[in-house]
Amino acid sequence: MVTLRALSTDDAPALPRIYSGASIRYTTSKPLTLDQAHDKIRAGLARAAETPRAQWSWGILHEDDLIGLISLRRRTPTMGTISYILRDDTWGHGYATYAARQVVTVAFTTAGLNRLEAMHHPDNPASGRVLAKAGFTRIGTADRDTATGTVPYELYALEDGA
Ligand SMILES: CC(C)(COP(=O)(O)OP(=O)(O)OC[C@H]1O[C@@H](n2cnc3c(N)ncnc32)[C@H](O)[C@@H]1OP(=O)(O)O)[C@@H](O)C(=O)NCCC(=O)NCCS
Repeated sequence: MVTLRALSTDDAPALPRIYSGASIRYTTSKPLTLDQAHDKIRAGLARAAETPRAQWSWGILHEDDLIGLISLRRRTPTMGTISYILRDDTWGHGYATYAARQVVTVAFTTAGLNRLEAMHHPDNPASGRVLAKAGFTRIGTADRDTATGTVPYELYALEDGA
């Protein structure tokens, strides 16, 4: 069973394994150190305490195993973005789709948003499938600067009630 919960500092040792291997090939491109994992969790906890709240971050758990992270960010009063990353040995079981659907529900209820956007690297079609299964529609591309130059990321959107 997959569940979402807030991260705590005790979760830091699990993060470097999540941010490694295939999971970072089309995202950050960089492995995460333990110090950076602590910083990341601290930053997430600080942002969770802000009013109005602009960021929600959850750990994705399979049973008791922390297998990934998913975040929701408010970009305007009514529009937000989601992003996610799963440890590469847990891919292919529908876990990311399950997590994305949960976060869509939070976005349109608790967070009071009415539009969500998300993007993924063009060479990472699995992420596009996750978004499509969570109800998103591809709306075009958005150029992003990466270590290898400018890349046209695939851009998706979902309107509340769509
Ligand atoms: C994208 C990611 C989260 C997917 O996690 P996951 O738990 O394996 O996803 P799911 O099992 O819910 O769904 C994956 C879907 O992609 C499909 N898929 C997998 N590899 C694929 C490929 N190479 N081409 C096309 N579709 C692919 C699967 O078949 C599945 O679709 P289906 O249910 O219709 O068969 C994971 O690969 C990841 O962490 N990638 C790196 C981080 C990232 O890219 N994040 C997105 C940016 S926000």
